Amino acid sequence: MLTVENINVYYGAIHALRNVSLQVNQGEIVSLIGANGAGKSSILRTISGLNKLKGGKISFLDKVLYESKTKKNIFGNESFTTTGVAPHSLAKMGIGHVPEGRRVFPHMSVKENLLMGAYSRKDRDFSESFENVFEKFPRLKERIKQPAGTLSGGEQQMLAMGRALMNQPKLLLMDEPSMGLAPMLVEEIFDIIKEINSKTGTTILLVEQNAHLALSIAHRGYVIETGEIILEGPAQELANNPEVRKAYLGE
Ligand SMILES: Nc1ncnc2c1ncn2[C@@H]1O[C@H](COP(=O)(O)OP(=O)(O)OP(=O)(O)O)[C@@H](O)[C@H]1O
Ligand SMILES: [Mg+2]
Repeated sequence: MLTVENINVYYGAIHALRNVSLQVNQGEIVSLIGANGAGKSSILRTISGLNKLKGGKISFLDKVLYESKTKKNIFGNESFTTTGVAPHSLAKMGIGHVPEGRRVFPHMSVKENLLMGAYSRKDRDFSESFENVFEKFPRLKERIKQPAGTLSGGEQQMLAMGRALMNQPKLLLMDEPSMGLAPMLVEEIFDIIKEINSKTGTTILLVEQNAHLALSIAHRGYVIETGEIILEGPAQELANNPEVRKAYLGE
């Protein structure tokens, strides 16, 4: 469904992603684990069109999202030309992003935030989507008129997820949904992620520092270290890998 081929991303002189390749198949939960600063968010942000490629290609459902080609000028110097779809068209194509740190609109109500998630839909009948979100997150229903900035951290995470679900995404990119949440709430959020995948068949690419949880719900996983994918495989296999156990599972 999603194919990332050999992508390179720079922030100024920092080479943040080095020849990263990964694949997400329809119906899967794929977890991307790695330490602080490894490049996890950079991968999701690049898929969402927020970082420019310098080399590589990303495709979604057989359509090329971005492609970067090298070009040599008459002096032999290399430069990159990158083509790609605009970030706003990704929502239309069915890609949803639940960003790191939630990024809800603080001065808008819960309802308005949810409506923002649906802006790119062609139909205007959101009642079923509202019901679906409120069924998963009853707390949001109780707070429908409350400004999002006054919600607790956990409630804001629910809202960020609900907002993405309003667009009925085919692929959901989730960046550290467990960050800063109490263990009980983390479990609840992860149960809901599993349910989103199993009930509606939504494909999920999940970024997490909590490797134990991330691998426990995933079908497959990738380990990223300083901008490079160093390991990949079925989630169970990764969870049993001695290197992963030592570096990411605290054993
Ligand atoms: N806008 C930016 N400008 C400069 N450097 C950046 C920028 N965004 C990220 N970086 C750098 O790129 C590297 C990868 O960052 P990224 O946010 O992708 O890491 P991460 O794996 O998501 O980390 P964390 O788990 O802390 O969220 C880091 O060294 C970071 O400092
Ligand atoms: Mg991050």
